[in-house]
Amino acid sequence: MSAPPRRCVLAYSGGLDTSVAVRWLTEELGFEVVTLTADLGGEGRDAATITDRALKAGAVAAHVVDARRVFVEHFAFPTLAAGALYEGVYPLATALARPLIAKLLVDVAREEGAVAVAHGCTGKGNDQVRFDVATAALAPELEVVAPVRDWHMGRPQEIAYAAAHGIEVPATVDSPYSVDANLWGRSVECGPLENPWTAPPEEVYEWTADPATADATGEEVAISFEHGIPVSVDGEPLAAEELVRRLNTLAGRNGVGRLDHVENRLVGIKSREVYEAPAAVILHTAHAALETLALPRDVAHLKLQLAAEWARLVYDGLWFGALRSALAAFVLSTQEHVGGEVRVRCARGLVSVTGRRAEHSLYSTALATYDREGNVFDHTAARGFIELFGLSLRTQARVQGALEDLPPLSLPRQVRRAP
Ligand code: ARG
Repeated sequence: MSAPPRRCVLAYSGGLDTSVAVRWLTEELGFEVVTLTADLGGEGRDAATITDRALKAGAVAAHVVDARRVFVEHFAFPTLAAGALYEGVYPLATALARPLIAKLLVDVAREEGAVAVAHGCTGKGNDQVRFDVATAALAPELEVVAPVRDWHMGRPQEIAYAAAHGIEVPATVDSPYSVDANLWGRSVECGPLENPWTAPPEEVYEWTADPATADATGEEVAISFEHGIPVSVDGEPLAAEELVRRLNTLAGRNGVGRLDHVENRLVGIKSREVYEAPAAVILHTAHAALETLALPRDVAHLKLQLAAEWARLVYDGLWFGALRSALAAFVLSTQEHVGGEVRVRCARGLVSVTGRRAEHSLYSTALATYDREGNVFDHTAARGFIELFGLSLRTQARVQGALEDLPPLSLPRQVRRAP
């Protein structure tokens, strides 16, 4: 009796690559293919269409998982609380989805008795790294197969392969763009965007109105946070995925959330990316504004540095690593008092904070005011403080000379002396 076929769980989008991959894994590698599609709130097809397509392409089983809430609560919101934007720009939508999809692949692989997982990433991007290392971190015993990286077929050959095997070719196959989308944002690359001098054609945007033609008045919205996590919009408590969906719509129709960035990929390539992330942009702005009231100066400053580390490790696919867990403990501790409300206005592509209040605000009007009335700041204490603060510089100047790297300045001036 021959050995039963080995099973493989494929991350399946329903697009051309992964549909062809179902058949290729079956024919070329002899796998029995189970597909897994994670609904993360991107522009998806419905579950019935996806499972139909997967089964038609030759899968033995097709799973579709609604992972929207866990995605926002466990991946997007902690990254928001960390203040993490890759290279100060990219809210990491695609990068955050990969470890969750890897986790779902591993779960299904265990349920279905699979020995391998597979994904449809090419050999040029970050996503292959993220899937491969996240899987390695969660289930080192599983093999990871990347058919698109290995099969050396171009688009035309893939289409021919699909036709030869009766696999439906999706209508989007003609688009010059490569798009990945979930609730936290939409990532677009390729086509005319590959020239960094070319302005993104309006057709690349699907979630955001053109700021030039958006309503000039815009809209104001109040967002409440508890422990650094957004919990309600205009006073209405919302589930995580609904809150993000709502802000995507509101900010998007005001042209907020367009990002155009040439980024440094982990694999050494620079690539020009266009993102749409209306909710992420508005939430990062609001969260940072609340932190200005709630965090002490030293914590705020260190947190900024660690935000860059968080962003890099997420970008690099190291979500399931010790550094993320260590940074998460730090971030969690900083968010203890990050509760309150922020008012933001979205108009013509810009988001501006118009008000903020925190339950445990460190801002004190009595200390900050320049009015004499009600002022509690001790001016006499400032003298002694500055005396000591400047002591080291004064000593340097006396002993080693002033660090004066400008000559005496002779600038145009007007002088009048008293007669
Ligand atoms: N450059 C972004 C990242 O590495 C987005 C990648 C988009 N992926 C895609 N399959 N189109 O996270």
